[in-house]
Amino acid sequence: MNTPKRYLITAALPYANGLKHIGHLAGAYLPADIYVRYLKAQKRDVVFVCGSDEHGTAIPIQATKEGTTAQAIIDKYHPIIEQNFKDLGIEFDIYHRTSDKLHHETASEFFKTLEGNGDLETKTSLQYFDEATNTFLADRYIKGTCPNCGHNEAFGDQCEKCGKSLSPEELINPVSTLSGNAPIKKETTHWYLPLNKHEAFLREWILNQHQNDWRPAVVGQCKSWIEGGLQPRAVTRDLDWGVKVPVAGGDGKVLYVWFDAPIGYISATKQWAINNNKDWQPYWKDADTKLVHFIGKDNIVFHCIIFPVMLKLHGNILPESVPANEFMNLEGDKMSTSRGWSIEMDDYINQWIKKENGGTGLADSLRFYLTSISPESKDSEFTWKGFQESVNGELVSIFANFVNRTWVLMHKLCNGKVPPIHPDLLDDEDKALLTTVQETKDKVTALLEQYKFREAQFEVIHLARIGNQYMQKKEPWILAKSLESDTTAQAKINNCMHGCLQLCANLSILINPFLPFTAKRMCHLMKVVDKMLDWENAGKFNLLKVGYTLRAPELLFRKIEDVEIEAQLAKLQSLLTTKNSTMDTATPQAESASEEKALKPEIVFDDFGKIDLRVGTILEAKKVEKADKLLELYVDLGFEKRTILSGIAMHFSPESLVGKQVVVVANLAPRKMRGIESKGMILLAEDAQGKLHFVQPQEVIASGSSIS
Ligand code: MF3
Ligand code: ZN
Repeated sequence: MNTPKRYLITAALPYANGLKHIGHLAGAYLPADIYVRYLKAQKRDVVFVCGSDEHGTAIPIQATKEGTTAQAIIDKYHPIIEQNFKDLGIEFDIYHRTSDKLHHETASEFFKTLEGNGDLETKTSLQYFDEATNTFLADRYIKGTCPNCGHNEAFGDQCEKCGKSLSPEELINPVSTLSGNAPIKKETTHWYLPLNKHEAFLREWILNQHQNDWRPAVVGQCKSWIEGGLQPRAVTRDLDWGVKVPVAGGDGKVLYVWFDAPIGYISATKQWAINNNKDWQPYWKDADTKLVHFIGKDNIVFHCIIFPVMLKLHGNILPESVPANEFMNLEGDKMSTSRGWSIEMDDYINQWIKKENGGTGLADSLRFYLTSISPESKDSEFTWKGFQESVNGELVSIFANFVNRTWVLMHKLCNGKVPPIHPDLLDDEDKALLTTVQETKDKVTALLEQYKFREAQFEVIHLARIGNQYMQKKEPWILAKSLESDTTAQAKINNCMHGCLQLCANLSILINPFLPFTAKRMCHLMKVVDKMLDWENAGKFNLLKVGYTLRAPELLFRKIEDVEIEAQLAKLQSLLTTKNSTMDTATPQAESASEEKALKPEIVFDDFGKIDLRVGTILEAKKVEKADKLLELYVDLGFEKRTILSGIAMHFSPESLVGKQVVVVANLAPRKMRGIESKGMILLAEDAQGKLHFVQPQEVIASGSSIS
């Protein structure tokens, strides 16, 4: 394809009924942002749209559960999610919402056009109805046993266990989620999108035209939908939360959430156009616009089959590509906010970025690791250890290290100025550096155009690695020792440092789509304006002018410490326990006993006999520097006094602990954290709210007393 005239890039509209986790971030928003930043650096005409998906049954259901309104829920989460994206450098041109009037008008018009053209069918049928609450049971208002995997909490639209799309009719033993009653059947009329009539178009468009340029998993899913036999799909519901059905007979009905939400991309574009005094129409109507949808794999059918049929019928352009990602798991298990097994963007921001004193290195650290394990062709796995290794081993030791060494040496050996080149003394290695940069630029460009973000980022880091090798080979610090004996030494140093500096300038351009905060900080170090980051500047070695004074070195990233990783792992574990216990109390009938904390496997008496438990008395307690969770305790065990670290700083103030008696596992192997050796462990009980309580003797007894 020739360079398109303009681009419209979308990222799946997140449901505004809860926080979004880093799996969502890695799935759609981060790759979309990288792509958009790259396009903008290429000075292409791009609009990047996103916003909140605020309809569907999940939101009013949650509102009922929480004793609030659907409007209150979306009003709470919409701004939080929007801000979370900003804090992580996801820079939409517009973050709209489907509850907005403009969206309601746009979705209404869309439906009316299709209905007016005779592209929708109506059908009257018997549907599940809850007499107790006088409601038709669509989507999440009905649950039952999944016919596919036997999970007994499957919803009327999908089984969350096996992921299968369902209709209420397929559920075994269906019950209303509103009343818990078995439903009756009642007649109702709905509008349907007859997908079956568009099979030939879908086959030709996806299975022929895009079979080679779309990801195999995307084509594969579409193929199985098409081969499975496309059915007319209901696009209206008997509900009151959503976009009202705007035609006769539509009273008490709204558009199905998956009909209105993708139209949200169009309303967002309209709002962007209003805000910027532009025309939105070419972005959705002109064939020379390239439309790309970034989504997770659970959204494929909606973006590749249903929405394209709607777009075609409505006279809009079709997506050029839908680079859907697989899922990202967390520490060996599926990420899930409801089960507590996830890292919310909001949590990461509060625990890492906000504590950084206004820095943004840690936003880029997360972006970096997520892209390095981007689930582009298969599910991937986030581990805290992996995060630490990736940041410390690549960002810190390779990328930041190269920039830092360059800056330090340039200040030391070249008076803090960009040194001149001495052409007659340039050797093959000096010359090869420029070629390598140009080759890397070509590779990165090609990979980005193919949505291969993981490999593209790898190439940029590899270029920094080559920079380190080059500097290691040239050893300007050794040359500096022979300045008096060797008259060419300074010239050679200059050539080397000139090359390293120009390489840094190139690195800032190439890393910019991936790590935008870092690229900006590099511009600051180089005292250049952001404009230097234009993609056309990559591959040039005259970006920093000879004689120009550069700023003093600054570290771009910091290392991630063991203790931080341990604290995160502990937190994940405790979150899981607390969320499970609150869920147990909130919905006792819904949760099975298996959700309670499982008993560990049986042990024999000898196993227990190995543990030496003693009563200890806390003599001193203080916070461990730079570790939010840790307290350093000095404990009297009668026969000796020792230091024990405990991850309870979030629960107790140090002052409140002095004099307290506690139970200590006294023969636990010592462990070092934050450079402090901890000898033993203190026992704590955790209640259903996640609050910690010391296990203590009923009255004060001698320190060192043994417990058995
Ligand atoms: N809210 C949906 C989800 O989180 C995505 C909607 S994408 C749109 O799975 F195209 F419908 F907007
Ligand atoms: Zn299932």
